[in-house]
Amino acid sequence: MKEAFLEKKLEERKNEGALRKLSLRKEMMDFCSNDYLGLAGISRNNGYYQSQQLLLEGLSHGSTGSRLLSGNSVMAENIESMIASFHDAPAALLFNSGYDANTGLLSVLGKKGDYILYDKLSHASIRDGIRLGYATAWPFEHNSIESLISKLKNARQAHLNDAGEGEIFVVTESVFSMDGDIAPLVEMVEVCDRYGAHLVVDEAHALGIIGERGEGCCQSFDVHAKCMARIYTYGKAAGAHGAAIVGSTILKEYLLNFARSFIYTTALPPVSLIGIQYAYERFPQMGKERMHLHKLISIFRDAVLVHEKLDSNTAIQGVIVPGNYTVRLLAEKIQDAGFDVRPVMYPSVPKGKERLRIVLHAYNTPQELEMLIGHLQ
Ligand SMILES: Cc1ncc(COP(=O)(O)O)c(C=O)c1O
Repeated sequence: MKEAFLEKKLEERKNEGALRKLSLRKEMMDFCSNDYLGLAGISRNNGYYQSQQLLLEGLSHGSTGSRLLSGNSVMAENIESMIASFHDAPAALLFNSGYDANTGLLSVLGKKGDYILYDKLSHASIRDGIRLGYATAWPFEHNSIESLISKLKNARQAHLNDAGEGEIFVVTESVFSMDGDIAPLVEMVEVCDRYGAHLVVDEAHALGIIGERGEGCCQSFDVHAKCMARIYTYGKAAGAHGAAIVGSTILKEYLLNFARSFIYTTALPPVSLIGIQYAYERFPQMGKERMHLHKLISIFRDAVLVHEKLDSNTAIQGVIVPGNYTVRLLAEKIQDAGFDVRPVMYPSVPKGKERLRIVLHAYNTPQELEMLIGHLQ
């Protein structure tokens, strides 16, 4: 049997109750997608979605090449200027996805002799990017300033021992994708300053949701000018696809020269670009949706459940149900009652921290949420 080695690995996954499978979404109340504000229009065929569809007509589905060859366009450049201006930064560079942005950036940011310190709960795209590069990488405890300081001290000491002039980078998410909690960015900026480290912040789950205009955590906490790079992804609240890295013009020039996931790939097509542009036009007008979301968050936070809840003040709410089988069984039971709730299992999260990842949206009603809570009590 030629592929027995693959089957063996799949069998192991199956025995752990962690075999991944593709499934099609059934019509259910959406407590699972990252379409926080409803902009993707999958969940509700609202007026905005219809108008966007109209405008999509006639736009090309192909960009014909890499941005560095035939794939560049006035539209892409204009959208990058708009992104930079919205995020109060000198420059922005588009990538095809958040995964590409993180791997592209983190694989080339540090060289041998440099240190990358990253939050231990960082998204796979952050960890994969770091693994592709040559810097020494150390995780620090999740959202722990003490742990970060201790790693910064060690990295500084290592540089002194090597008599080297290496750089230190600190990487975090602003809103964590699995736990929904927020990084202590103000303190992080302060310690990065103290130890001469560069801060990189992934704002994937903050864009559109946090801040008066949905500008994300960095601007809303007024630390954006102190960040070397910020990553905004468009597959979540923006309801589109793609990502951008925001920072200095030098960073942009560096990335378009060295980031392989930018150079060696076909650029985003106009249909994708227009989706990003719409999201940025809509974000400032969606204060009512953000307020509604916050109302849902406090309803959920106040609910008494039989299971442990993660301490999150964002649209991502985790309910810990240890064990792959147990969490999957519970998710299936709730799905049968009409709620699209998904389990997140080991190895995506540590053993014992398996959970239901409940995502709240601007289009969920308080009544729907109360019904869902009823299934968790
Ligand atoms: C924190 C974080 N960064 C990056 C990504 C990747 O973004 P994309 O889906 O656009 O590839 C995700 C997606 O799950 C994420 O949660």
